[in-house]
Amino acid sequence: MDDLDEMLSQQQQYYRERARDYDAWINNYLLPAEKKFEELVNSSPLTGDILEMACGSGYWTERISRVAHHVTALDGSQEMLDIVDGRQLPNVSTAQADLFNWNPPTQWDGIFFANWLAHVPDARFEQFWRTVSAALLPTGTVVIMDVAPAEKFIEEEVVDDSSLPIARRRLKDGRRFDIVKKYWEPEELLDRISPLGFTGKATPVGQEAGRGFVWYELEKRNEF
Ligand SMILES: C[S@@+](CC[C@H](N)C(=O)[O-])C[C@H]1O[C@@H](n2cnc3c(N)ncnc32)[C@H](O)[C@@H]1O
Repeated sequence: MDDLDEMLSQQQQYYRERARDYDAWINNYLLPAEKKFEELVNSSPLTGDILEMACGSGYWTERISRVAHHVTALDGSQEMLDIVDGRQLPNVSTAQADLFNWNPPTQWDGIFFANWLAHVPDARFEQFWRTVSAALLPTGTVVIMDVAPAEKFIEEEVVDDSSLPIARRRLKDGRRFDIVKKYWEPEELLDRISPLGFTGKATPVGQEAGRGFVWYELEKRNEF
């Protein structure tokens, strides 16, 4: 296992260990933009059979399931998926998957992921987008929610002077984990994914509250 594999495995362990507290945390974290997010989900193209990657405790799964025909929600952490299953959403199925080692068994009308792309290191970025492309019907849409640099205030310590930006996180019991965390500027992200076959627009969310959430809606232009 190389250093990056080791860090990605730590990243998974960090979220497994955090699962029990995560749902309350994410609800509180997203609260300032909750109404806007509801509007964006309701007017989004996430209406057919939707794949949600890295669903966590299901904050978004629940909201998307209200507009989608069906949601397939994947996460690396069974502890997170147990919380999603506990929501008893009739049109949602869950499965455990390591998204860096997952082959899509089918293609979906739409793909959604929130607070996930920031955790994809540059060295796995193209491979990850190949997976997204393979999982999406040619007419499909990718919707992303992620964080711009204005959200860095949540970090106790960041090391971002390299091609592998790292956040040093601490659990309540004091254990420390290094995780990948890239706070993309929206234009920088759109430029990065354009050669990978995806184009679209970025909508800032929560700016009036000093927050840096970004909502992206993307189309697949071509296979790469
Ligand atoms: C910041 S949370 C985001 C959860 C959810 N999307 C949200 O916005 O609340 C990141 C999620 O990625 C999952 N994760 C981390 N590494 C993963 C991997 N290699 N494959 C699949 N999921 C992974 C974690 O278990 C965690 O649920």
